[in-house]
Amino acid sequence: MAATDDPLEALAMRALGLVRDGTVVGLGTGRAATAFLHALAGRVRDGCRVKGVPTSEETERLARELGIPLVGLEADLDLTVDGADEVDPELNLIKGYGGALVRERIVAAASARLVILVTRDKLVEVLGSHGRLPVEVLPFALPLCRRRLEALGLKPVLRTEEDRLFVTDNWNVIVDCATGPIEDPHALERTILTIAGVVDTGLFLGIADTVLVADGVTVRELDRRRRP
Ligand code: A5P
Repeated sequence: MAATDDPLEALAMRALGLVRDGTVVGLGTGRAATAFLHALAGRVRDGCRVKGVPTSEETERLARELGIPLVGLEADLDLTVDGADEVDPELNLIKGYGGALVRERIVAAASARLVILVTRDKLVEVLGSHGRLPVEVLPFALPLCRRRLEALGLKPVLRTEEDRLFVTDNWNVIVDCATGPIEDPHALERTILTIAGVVDTGLFLGIADTVLVADGVTVRELDRRRRP
């Protein structure tokens, strides 16, 4: 019998098996990453000397509450464990529904390995299938970015939360673009990043090394060839 009936907990326990004592681990943002944080905190209570780098203020608060020691990006990380909103067959991702995409990309870039935890519903044949691509924008540039994204046919919608403007941890705003299935994600990423004032997009292409997928509480591992 499985030790849990919660798919996110099953993912978290599997990811915990990848954590080595004494290393620095990137801590993602969102529900799957939160489940991992709880699992990791148990390991820390048992004496594991791991330290974490949070990808958002929300994750930082929770990690502190749970007693996970935190550090900055002074040294490279062994591993980052995070969630995603869409995963394609090449393990390209869309991230940022939770609004933490910029720090998530930075922490992933500092990590030797990025492990993504998702439930099966996040797997798509083509990125953009769930219809939304988050783009982080400097507030000063918002009118310009909106016009340029509009001109690309991306129908940008400024993100709000409980009727208030959603402001990221970097004091920027998010526009959610209506994409539909994206024919060429690399080309779209390049095009969006050329718009002055765009800070980042939710397209994480060729970055994930491993995706752990929960189908119920059964977890399978998808691996991309390791980065050199
Ligand atoms: C945060 O900005 C996102 O990139 C999350 O990692 C992503 O939205 C997945 O979150 P859940 O695990 O909550 O679905």
